[in-house]
Amino acid sequence: MKPSIFTLILLIFGTIHIAQGLPLYKDKNAPLEQRIEDLLGQMTTEEKIQQLNQLSFGVNLNPNNKGEAVNDVDPQVGSLIYLNENPVERNAIQQRAMEKSRLGIPILFGFDTIHGIKTVYPIPLAQACSWSPPLVTQAAAVAARETKLTGIDWTFSPMIDVARDSRWGRIAESYGEDPYAISIFGAATVRGYQGASLSDSGSVAACLKHFVGYGVSEGGRDYRATDISAQALWETYLPPFEAGVKAGAATLMSGFNDISGVPASANRYLLTEVLKQQWKHGGFVVSDWNSVEQLIAQGVAKDRKEAGLKSFTAGVEMNMVDRIYADHLQELLLEGKVTMDSINDAVSRVLRVKFRLGLFEQPYTPIVPEAERYLRPEDRAVAAKLAEESMVLLKNERAALPISSKVKSLALIGPLVKDQENLLGCWSGNGKPKDVETIFEGVTREFGDNVKLSYARGCDFDGTDESGFADAFVAASNADAVVVCIGEKKAWSGENSSRSTIALPAIQEKLVARLKETGKPIILVLSNGRPLELQRLEPMADAIVEMWQPGVAGGTPLAGILSGRVNPSGRLAITFPLVTGQIPIYYGMRSSARPNDGNYKDISTEPLYTFGHGLSYTSFDYGKATLSNSKLAGDQKLTVQVPVTNTGSVTGQETAFWFISDPVCSVSRPMKELKHFEKKTINPGETVVFTFQIDPMRDLSHPDSTGRRLLEAGDFHVRIKDQKLTFELVDDDDRPTVPAPVTP
Ligand code: GLC
Repeated sequence: MKPSIFTLILLIFGTIHIAQGLPLYKDKNAPLEQRIEDLLGQMTTEEKIQQLNQLSFGVNLNPNNKGEAVNDVDPQVGSLIYLNENPVERNAIQQRAMEKSRLGIPILFGFDTIHGIKTVYPIPLAQACSWSPPLVTQAAAVAARETKLTGIDWTFSPMIDVARDSRWGRIAESYGEDPYAISIFGAATVRGYQGASLSDSGSVAACLKHFVGYGVSEGGRDYRATDISAQALWETYLPPFEAGVKAGAATLMSGFNDISGVPASANRYLLTEVLKQQWKHGGFVVSDWNSVEQLIAQGVAKDRKEAGLKSFTAGVEMNMVDRIYADHLQELLLEGKVTMDSINDAVSRVLRVKFRLGLFEQPYTPIVPEAERYLRPEDRAVAAKLAEESMVLLKNERAALPISSKVKSLALIGPLVKDQENLLGCWSGNGKPKDVETIFEGVTREFGDNVKLSYARGCDFDGTDESGFADAFVAASNADAVVVCIGEKKAWSGENSSRSTIALPAIQEKLVARLKETGKPIILVLSNGRPLELQRLEPMADAIVEMWQPGVAGGTPLAGILSGRVNPSGRLAITFPLVTGQIPIYYGMRSSARPNDGNYKDISTEPLYTFGHGLSYTSFDYGKATLSNSKLAGDQKLTVQVPVTNTGSVTGQETAFWFISDPVCSVSRPMKELKHFEKKTINPGETVVFTFQIDPMRDLSHPDSTGRRLLEAGDFHVRIKDQKLTFELVDDDDRPTVPAPVTP
């Protein structure tokens, strides 16, 4: 039998290398797949299994991730979660792997850089409200550089779970409720992390998580089961992951959640048939913390060994910290329950990421002084810009904002005025409160000597102590306007932080009510990791600014919005329910059988603030939108445009949201679906044209329960602001359609 070309290449390269005394896999000029093949061919079964094992190293401050951190690291281990803040120990461990292990395979160091590791920028839910993917990419690149210089090659981010239940604490880590928006921001973050090449000095491998549907945990209670139909999987929860895979994300993380009876970490259909066979993902999947062992609690495995078998055969390549693969894969192999081919495939995927990262050539992290490593002025500036663009002006009446020059005294009141820690938000990496610019500092700098500032804390985040109200009342009474800074602690959102109500603790509402009695203008500033129930607070406020949890550089941007130096441009990427009882409530719902009936009898069925809501200090007038054609045939595209004029007196940024509706279809569709958005700066009196080019297969098709994209002729609506234009997609056999995916 003639040797394959592949074998010939291997032989040629192998011969050259033997002559040079260098194994082929160590030659950076050899083709990647040959390097993997060569290395794999030299590994023992034990060495292969060790590559699938991830342990935790360093002091673990995450209370949810229980489990010991290793100290005496086996140099053959595939990966370590690295919890130290400098690369010195990482390099020492790596040196043992490179020099003491038989084949010198570098360890892959991972960590949760979610929205910055030291230069912490806004939580992802806030980032999405900026509607600025380029800025999100820029911030992710800052995070990647600092992460890499910390000694970490791989971040467990972006989190791209669709989140529509604000009781779920991890909504803070998400990009909100809309699959299209999450797809765009998830891909933008992947690009920022991975750069032009994974082997670039400032790049880290991304990890799309949590695959898939973790955000639908019942009742917003974390770790709970999810019930997701195949239609919903393909329509809502998978698209962001498909976009992330297309953006080149090197890895994924399987979720904790049970998906309609099959837990995510044992879900072969998703982990293998969809991810590997349909989407051709060439990287690997890491389990979530103990999520393999948790299959026992979820009732699909009787013991650790069976949990390992289920997870590995489903398509989880790397096992995070519960050591099940290290303990049982060899046995399962000997029993013929897993094959060497499947182990080889899993190890190849891990090695592929390590080779692509350049770890064999650059196994060590350069040691740079902390001042060069972290919090460079240019990086803080990126964090500030993203914070500025993510803040949302929710309400502004009686000209409360911007604060007028007539205001000569301002009272700053509330537990967040001088707070640092909680502005960081959940999953703040190695971010330090001392590096956070407070609201007080930002406002003092902004208003300087022109305005007399007073401060009173007023109350704590929760509890019943009203002893601070009196001072707060006096400060407010003696001021021309009152800025009340209230909200959540960073620990109230994030993992294992579900809340039965999204209202703020009563003490904070009572403080605002007391201050309202002064009759002064009340400007509410909110810092929170989820939409809040504002039903009682909203009427008491003349203005409301949602500043979210901005990270290290939120004080100045907020002050700029209060003074008018910054025209707020954030728009909500998540619906704000009127009250908790409305949850789940989001814009992309399907129509009711009786649209005008079946509503709550005790409260409104409308949210307080809808998806896309956000005010500006100027006004934008939308002209008449126009279609390039009223019919769409063949492989044509349809262009729709709308002129938008800044009819106010200050420059502003406007985001145009383009939605598609399909009023009649064989599968009922959401009442509208976001398909395009664009943010532009418009000067006073200027008119700019926003354009959306409709691609039928991308924008008008819908998935069936196997993920096949289907196009159905008929009328469609395209919506922009309050306009709805109708066009017809005509039946056309010649229209290109995507190939049907491999069916399960
Ligand atoms: C946590 C989280 C996951 C994180 C991992 C490692 O439990 O669910 O998002 O990346 O463990 O810290």
